[in-house]
Amino acid sequence: MNLKDQIESLGKEAVELIKKVESLDKLNSLRVEYLGKKGKLKTILKTLGKLSPEERKEIGQLANRIKEQIEDLIKEKEVQLKEKALEEELKKHKIDITLPSAWIEAGSSHPIISTLVEISQIFISMGFSVAEGPEVEKEEYNFDMLNIPKDHPARDMQDTFFLNNGDLLRTHTSPVQIRTMLTRKPPIAVIAPGRVYRKDADPTHSPMFHQIEGLLVDTDVTFTDLKGILKIFLESVFGKNVGIRFRPSYFPFTEPSAEVDISCTVCGGEGCRVCKGTGWLEILGCGMVDPNVFEAVSIDPEKYTGFAFGLGIERIAMLKYRINDIRLLFENDMRFNHQFKGIR
Ligand code: PHE
Repeated sequence: MNLKDQIESLGKEAVELIKKVESLDKLNSLRVEYLGKKGKLKTILKTLGKLSPEERKEIGQLANRIKEQIEDLIKEKEVQLKEKALEEELKKHKIDITLPSAWIEAGSSHPIISTLVEISQIFISMGFSVAEGPEVEKEEYNFDMLNIPKDHPARDMQDTFFLNNGDLLRTHTSPVQIRTMLTRKPPIAVIAPGRVYRKDADPTHSPMFHQIEGLLVDTDVTFTDLKGILKIFLESVFGKNVGIRFRPSYFPFTEPSAEVDISCTVCGGEGCRVCKGTGWLEILGCGMVDPNVFEAVSIDPEKYTGFAFGLGIERIAMLKYRINDIRLLFENDMRFNHQFKGIR
């Protein structure tokens, strides 16, 4: 077979094989086999030297044509095979978009927040606005200006979290009364919800808990106003039929002072374990703003009177939702939290 025929049949052979190839690997080895440095075409062309210049030119052109033909075919085949591989890959990872998606659980309000919002809303509807103060408080605002004497047991290291610099974690929301009266002139009607801290921990006490403070200052505010407002509030939360009683009490920053009880929400007043057989539950502290407090914030006690009250949010939430251990409110056990879904 002469050189020309050899090259042409090599070309045919290669074309046939390439057409039949099914994998990229195989295609690559065919490329090496026919067009590589030590490939079949190169081997044939090595004998070119023996030919006359005219023949060499003719054969050279033929070899180039065959080479290009093979290269083109390989390229074409490569595209085809890559497309096929991609298709197969896609088939393997096919996703069914009609399948239902993963369940994403909707969040809901924590019972403390729901209770806080509910209480706030009642007072807001009566014209109170919301005031805030810091949780790290000055001793002056938490105690002194509230007429709490230096030797008062509440200041004890056993009850209050003091900071090294003499500040403290507020033990009640009452310092917000001071902050409000220092910055605003009467008439004042505010509530102040927030976190407070005391060294206390048992089934009904947590070292951190929430209170809402109320303060109303104007000319001619009386104890009757206080009773009326608290009655509206307690009936909104616990229902129209709730029993309410005011018991004389003592707070350094109010005079006179009272504690307010409601009829037991569990037994309705019969006497049970929750109310310790009394039929009553203590729910908040209140009173008329002490003239000493007015003087501390430079409000004229001859001209103005006012009332204040403070209550624990956890206590209200526990009674409302019949929760018997305060720690349940802070452990974030989802089995507990889930029970308050849908409650706003
Ligand atoms: N600050 C009091 C407490 O924490 C509650 C209170 C507030 C009482 C306002 C009277 C007036 O116990």
